[in-house]
Amino acid sequence: MSDHTLQSATLVRFAIVGCGAIAPTQAQALKEIPEFARVTHCVDTDCARAEAFAAKHGLVAIGWEDALRHPEIDAVTLCTPSGVHGKLAEEALRAGKHVVVEKPMEITVEACDALITAQRETNRKLAVISQHRFDPASQMVRKLVGEQALGRLIAADVRIPWFRTQEYYDSGDWRGTWALDGGGCLMNQGIHTVDLMLWLLGPVKEVYASVATAAHERIEVEDLVSATLVFANGALGTLFASTALYPGFPIRLGVFGTEGSAIIEGDVLHTLAIRGRDTVAGQVASSHAIQVATGGTRSAVHHAAQATPADTAAQAGTWKWGDAHRAQFIDFVSAIREDRPPLVDGHAGRSAVALIRAVYESARTGSVVRL
Ligand SMILES: NC(=O)c1ccc[n+]([C@@H]2O[C@H](COP(=O)([O-])OP(=O)(O)OC[C@H]3O[C@@H](n4cnc5c(N)ncnc54)[C@H](O)[C@@H]3O)[C@@H](O)[C@H]2O)c1
Repeated sequence: MSDHTLQSATLVRFAIVGCGAIAPTQAQALKEIPEFARVTHCVDTDCARAEAFAAKHGLVAIGWEDALRHPEIDAVTLCTPSGVHGKLAEEALRAGKHVVVEKPMEITVEACDALITAQRETNRKLAVISQHRFDPASQMVRKLVGEQALGRLIAADVRIPWFRTQEYYDSGDWRGTWALDGGGCLMNQGIHTVDLMLWLLGPVKEVYASVATAAHERIEVEDLVSATLVFANGALGTLFASTALYPGFPIRLGVFGTEGSAIIEGDVLHTLAIRGRDTVAGQVASSHAIQVATGGTRSAVHHAAQATPADTAAQAGTWKWGDAHRAQFIDFVSAIREDRPPLVDGHAGRSAVALIRAVYESARTGSVVRL
């Protein structure tokens, strides 16, 4: 089916590829948006796993080649180990399917570039899951940055102090390997916040980093990263990530401008302070962000008029795991219907991978890496 024949009311029919840990979240998210999507098939190299997943979620298990040829599958969503995203995504694009690929887009810049080329040549839609862009807190801070409410951005402070057990790394033979995970706490876990940081502050031009494998034994990759960043706009940043910090703590993303500061902690807006307006902090920031951020200005009225279910959920404190995946799938289907790029396209996916690879290169060489 071509984009031209996909009418605005057309449902996009998905196959989930890779029936492991993240797949149930995606299946549930797709089922919650029947006016946008259907999830009909699933694929896994482990046939028993595919059959079990199909039975549980009411799908049909199918082989990869059959999925590529199936006329009633419009799109595939890839939930496979990161190092096979590029190969599968390119095969799907060239078979005429639209593609959603879980983060990271791929594990090397070269593989990301190949995928961007395939997307351009096939004119299918390609989105990279970075669901936290759809959190109400992220959307709010992005809006404030776009309106220059924080002034000129001068600094970012990114902390991802997470914990993963050795059992987590042992739970899949691809986890913690260079070949298929492509890195450790930054490439797998920290990439969410790296993407948010790049979305809010723009590209990084210089990075200097150290990495360590501090608290896990049977992994090839890092579980601790400390880096300093210089952004293209002149802002300075710190980036600290780990999966070794027991028992694990919420991420924190601070965005600082000449007129104010916004701090996201976990998935919520923790602090918002804009010169001349009330500062809000803690849970209050999340529930009252819209009113305070807009402060009765014309844009406040505009924003209130456009309040989304996400805004409402955030204010009610009901935004939960899975909601952001659902929001990203709505964006993806809307991108197909409207023939526009999805919010997180291949270029965005590549930018996060390129920065993370630069962190690894800096740590390996002990020198500043320029992007
Ligand atoms: N967005 C998020 O919050 C989030 C969370 C977890 C994982 N992820 C990403 O999702 C991807 C999968 O992670 P996971 O934790 O679900 O992994 P997992 O190991 O639990 O599941 C991966 C599944 O893919 C299958 N598989 C492997 N190669 C395949 C192939 N060539 N074709 C079809 N199936 C294949 C495996 O048999 C397995 O069932 C990773 O890229 C990871 O970074 C994203």
